[in-house]
Amino acid sequence: MSIRLGDEAPNFTATTTDGEIDFHQWKADSWAVLYSHPADFTPVCTTELGRTAALGDEFAKRNVKPIVLSVDSVEDHHKWAPDIGEVGGTDLNFPIIADPDRKVAELYDMIHPGEGDTSTVRSVFVIDPANKVRLTLTYPKSVGRNFDEILRVIDALQATDAAPIATPVDWRPGDRVIVSPALSTEDAKTKLDNVEEVKPYLRWADQPS
Ligand code: BEZ
Repeated sequence: MSIRLGDEAPNFTATTTDGEIDFHQWKADSWAVLYSHPADFTPVCTTELGRTAALGDEFAKRNVKPIVLSVDSVEDHHKWAPDIGEVGGTDLNFPIIADPDRKVAELYDMIHPGEGDTSTVRSVFVIDPANKVRLTLTYPKSVGRNFDEILRVIDALQATDAAPIATPVDWRPGDRVIVSPALSTEDAKTKLDNVEEVKPYLRWADQPS
């Protein structure tokens, strides 16, 4: 069954490059980005995992723990790790799940048979501290993900959780935000700065600090 926004992220136990984990215990009350890739020792995947390692401080700043799944063995993951460090410029600093029996891949619907073989596509799940799925993205095997976009959405989710706002098209942190439709303009002016009504249903405000 597919996983929808707002669902609880299914729990699992798995062998990873950091040892055996229970996903919910490992994640605890952090955010997590769980993503899959087709196979070890493949070029696009090596660039993606290298970038994930290089973004370690950016994820930590946002209280996000990245974790990656490949259906290959943990022995292969350990052999591949130096290449990831070399390509990304940072040693591997997050766990890679070994899923040779495809238990986790099937739980998260990461295998899309129409995309070719039985390896996983490039699925992304952003999961919040309460274990709710907050973003899903699915990329084909031949197209690497944009990690600036993944960080941008996490910034937007954290901003919209903290204040009665939404974020407009192409929003970047620091840009003006949209007042939540649930709030009257009068109430918005007491809670947010520089509220401007462009339409009765479209009100802008400064991003709360
Ligand atoms: C890659 O990671 O380079 C890759 C994997 C499967 C299909 C195409 C590219």
